[in-house]
Amino acid sequence: MGAELSVIIPTYNERDNIRLLLKKIGQVLDGVSWEAIFVDDDSRDGTNKLVREIALHDSRVRCLQRIGRRGLSSACIEGILASSAPYLAVMDADLQHDESLLPKMLKVLKSESVSIVIGSRYIEGGGADGLNKARFKASRLATFLAKFFLKAEVSDPMSGFFMLKRSLFEKVVYRFNGRGFKILADIFASAPGKVSFKELPFSFRKRHSGESKLDMLVMWEYFILIADKLIGRFIPVNFVMFVFIALGGAVVHIGVLGFLLKNIGFNFQTAQLLTAIMAITANFLLNNIFTSNDLQLKGWHFLRGIGSFYIACSVGAVANIYIATSLYNTNIPWWMAGVLGAIIGFVWNYAVSSTFTWRKIGKNC
Ligand code: GDD
Ligand code: MN
Repeated sequence: MGAELSVIIPTYNERDNIRLLLKKIGQVLDGVSWEAIFVDDDSRDGTNKLVREIALHDSRVRCLQRIGRRGLSSACIEGILASSAPYLAVMDADLQHDESLLPKMLKVLKSESVSIVIGSRYIEGGGADGLNKARFKASRLATFLAKFFLKAEVSDPMSGFFMLKRSLFEKVVYRFNGRGFKILADIFASAPGKVSFKELPFSFRKRHSGESKLDMLVMWEYFILIADKLIGRFIPVNFVMFVFIALGGAVVHIGVLGFLLKNIGFNFQTAQLLTAIMAITANFLLNNIFTSNDLQLKGWHFLRGIGSFYIACSVGAVANIYIATSLYNTNIPWWMAGVLGAIIGFVWNYAVSSTFTWRKIGKNC
């Protein structure tokens, strides 16, 4: 007989939490036919190896290892797709989620007409003591923003702890955004109609072992999710972002170039060169910030990375300055010459930064 309840546990470097978590789940789900599916994004700390070792002796445990991929939401979606159980729970591996809620959630799904039960930190009886001050504020802000695009008054749409019926999952699975961390918000935003839900309070505990994977990339992906749900039907978010970045870059370019030309008094060629160096540096720094924490270049790797990035971009920069200066000498306005040169540089830098320096893992998956 297959399991009635699958507990989907996304993992990335969580080895030291696995055994304790399984022990606790086993205790609270005594009498329930359950299984645990760990969806591991090729952790370097041996998480997947440990899960498989355990699975050899316990057929309720499985490991789904993904290679060259990152993303909490997509891990949960694929874990659910690998299961046949009618009830599906999603829970973190680090023991921040109170496992004693699992049997209560299951009972609600079986006895009441709701399709999802959410573990909430923000209703009476719940708590978020496991979050530090900055994280608490960020979580409240994200929750506030969610109200604008979710069709439901969920108190904690950022919760990573919930249980749902397979029938609900099947309704939304083709519509998922699937990026980033916010799978619960994604479920609500992607559902074709209203979702019947119930919230149960729990205290978000401190992480047992290891560290959080929530970084700038994850926050950025949350904003993309919101944008996608708001405007994605009309116009692709990636296109809008591209236009904004290009326009923003052009405005900054003209500002800096103008300042160097008019206020400092550099000649056009020098001013365009300095502006190009600034743009390349900004490009590198932004890319490095919006990359998952563990792929970010730091210390010596940072210096080596930025050095090689300058070298790779120098080809585009030479073309930029040559073209801009030639145009400038034909008497077209300085800002137009500057921007046209910069476009050449931009296209080159874009090609370089998308193939160079950062491994592609963590992006767009
Ligand atoms: N497979 C996979 N891939 N798992 C991941 C990834 C990934 O890229 N990133 C994180 N995880 C796993 C972690 O190993 C952990 O089991 C779980 O997802 C949650 O990650 P944490 O890094 O512990 O996240 P957090 O504690 O900062 O955030 C949690 O609380 C938030 C609310 O404040 C998560 O539950 C969020 O979903 C939740 O919004
Ligand atoms: Mn955590």
